[in-house]
Amino acid sequence: MKTSHASLANLCCFLVAGLAAITVTPGNKVKVDKGGTAFTLSCDFSGLSMGLSEVVWTKNGTDVRTLSDGTTYKPDVGAGSYDNNTGTQTSTLTVSGSDSTRDEMEFVCEVTYPADNSTTENATVHLKFYSVASTAMSITVHSDQELTCNISGLDDDQPVSVTWKDPDGNTVNNDTNYSLDPGTVDDNGSQAAVLTIKKVKMETYKSTFTYKCSARSTQYPGSPPSSDVDVIVNLIICDDDRQCANGNCSDTNQCVCDESAHFKLNKTNPNICELTCSEDYCLNSGECIVSASATLQCNCQTGTEGVKCANFTSDPCAENPCKNEGHCSRDMNNPTDYTNHVCNCTSGFSGDNCEEIGSDKKEISEEVIVGAAVGGTVVLLGAAVFLLIIIKKNTTKVAVATVQINFQGTGEGTVQTHYASK
Ligand SMILES: *[C@@H]1O[C@H](CO)[C@@H](O)[C@H](O)[C@H]1NC(C)=O
Ligand SMILES: *[C@@H]1O[C@H](CO)[C@@H](O)[C@H](O)[C@H]1NC(C)=O
Ligand SMILES: *[C@@H]1O[C@H](CO)[C@@H](O)[C@H](O)[C@H]1NC(C)=O
Ligand SMILES: *[C@@H]1O[C@H](CO)[C@@H](O)[C@H](O)[C@H]1NC(C)=O
Ligand SMILES: *[C@@H]1O[C@H](CO)[C@@H](O)[C@H](O)[C@H]1NC(C)=O
Ligand SMILES: *[C@@H]1O[C@H](CO)[C@@H](O)[C@H](O)[C@H]1NC(C)=O
Ligand SMILES: *[C@@H]1O[C@H](CO)[C@@H](O)[C@H](O)[C@H]1NC(C)=O
Ligand SMILES: *[C@@H]1O[C@H](CO)[C@@H](O)[C@H](O)[C@H]1NC(C)=O
Ligand SMILES: *[C@@H]1O[C@H](CO)[C@@H](O)[C@H](O)[C@H]1NC(C)=O
Ligand SMILES: *[C@@H]1O[C@H](CO)[C@@H](O)[C@H](O)[C@H]1NC(C)=O
Ligand SMILES: *[C@@H]1O[C@H](CO)[C@@H](O)[C@H](O)[C@H]1NC(C)=O
Ligand SMILES: *[C@@H]1O[C@H](CO)[C@@H](O)[C@H](O)[C@H]1NC(C)=O
Repeated sequence: MKTSHASLANLCCFLVAGLAAITVTPGNKVKVDKGGTAFTLSCDFSGLSMGLSEVVWTKNGTDVRTLSDGTTYKPDVGAGSYDNNTGTQTSTLTVSGSDSTRDEMEFVCEVTYPADNSTTENATVHLKFYSVASTAMSITVHSDQELTCNISGLDDDQPVSVTWKDPDGNTVNNDTNYSLDPGTVDDNGSQAAVLTIKKVKMETYKSTFTYKCSARSTQYPGSPPSSDVDVIVNLIICDDDRQCANGNCSDTNQCVCDESAHFKLNKTNPNICELTCSEDYCLNSGECIVSASATLQCNCQTGTEGVKCANFTSDPCAENPCKNEGHCSRDMNNPTDYTNHVCNCTSGFSGDNCEEIGSDKKEISEEVIVGAAVGGTVVLLGAAVFLLIIIKKNTTKVAVATVQINFQGTGEGTVQTHYASK
């Protein structure tokens, strides 16, 4: 039943469309941010008995396709939008190219009746602009603060809707942290949208931050929103009335600490420079502390001393504990004790003090490695394989041998290493 119903409707409208005159109406009028980059205008055609294959868009009487004025115009007849049930079609014109000085533009879309090539219909579409501006400001955290976004170029009583984003990019709502006043359009076509950041929120800021505002036409709801405009907020941390503890106040009202003297800004209170331990202040794993007398001090590890633990209290190699001409040095690998020594044994000796005869090191007796090609196909690979052999004896000593295998060949090969322990 549905089918016959639909075809009946089609027949009806097809007939009506065939008889009716074509009408053209400006489609989505837009009012957009001057600084934006691409805008789409449209013209709606109705009363069509067939799809339109040509719509001419003109600007001041000139076909936009022939204009070369620094702006790009892309007309689209909208063939795909033709609806044979309703006899309608929508043609669009995309205007692109960033130009913050542009003024309102007027376009005419014109269609020639396909049936007689002489009757034409047209409609005029305006591309209107507003501008969004903000001013950087300097404020303190100790009271509610108002940020303003100023939108100009608006028509009487046609305010834009304004969206604010916080420094994290989250949309701001009327809540405990903020209050929003969208503002109204004044006699000069300007609207001042105000975001009040409440004291409770302000006090969470420690340094300069940036909010963003974006406007959107409510007059022409099809219009895209403007791009985000930054509202930069410089926090006044210090001024003539508010000093920085242990630091100086900069031109931008921020405290500056003398980092070379180990002063850093207190993370929770940007009015205070304080002595701060850095990772490398104490040497030889010494632990840095800020003393009660406001100096940096080092708690040295066993075997070290001095203001920064630079000196060693003893020489573990004084009595050369390494036998058999082994080389003695301080054990720097234990971060809590620098009184121990390590021996580097000469060949043929091992043990903590090189007292054992016999090396832990396994020597490679045969470093010829077999890279066997299976299946008869030999492809030059030129590959290098590094084989790491870690040999662990009963003792905890470990010797490492690196064997470099160069082989040419592919397929499922077997790789063998031969080693012998002496
Ligand atoms: C409308 O177009 C559709 C598909 O393009 C087609 O199947 C249908 O027959 C057309 N209807 C009329 C009334 O031309
Ligand atoms: C429109 O075209 C006329 C003549 O071609 C020219 O004098 C006039 O300045 C143009 N106007 C604009 C707004 O470009
Ligand atoms: C209208 O013009 C087009 C191309 O200029 C032509 O192909 C078409 O036959 C014309 N139609 C009529 C009804 O003259
Ligand atoms: C648009 O159509 C009107 C009449 O319908 C006509 O007076 C006007 O000149 C046309 N404009 C253009 C640009 O064709
Ligand atoms: C808003 O901008 C317009 C145009 O730039 C300017 O005339 C007006 O003074 C500004 N208003 C505010 C509140 O900044
Ligand atoms: C207000 O701001 C604080 C600090 O940024 C945040 O923790 C809290 O969730 C916010 N409150 C609301 C209602 O968003
Ligand atoms: C936010 O709240 C204030 C007062 O509570 C009100 O005047 C304002 O219209 C509200 N703004 C929005 C966007 O709801
Ligand atoms: C409109 O602009 C004029 C001239 O720039 C200025 O004197 C007047 O105060 C403005 N009005 C408003 C409501 O801002
Ligand atoms: C603070 O200013 C004084 C005097 O100009 C200067 O001697 C000192 O080095 C400054 N301290 C810092 C942390 O910049
Ligand atoms: C920063 O200052 C606060 C308050 O003066 C203090 O409690 C805190 O210990 C200081 N240091 C750091 C790293 O926050
Ligand atoms: C550390 O060694 C230096 C140079 O050997 C010496 O002048 C200084 O007195 C020593 N400091 C301590 C605390 O032993
Ligand atoms: C041990 O001594 C040999 C020979 O002097 C030297 O090549 C090697 O780097 C030394 N090893 C260590 C860990 O000092």
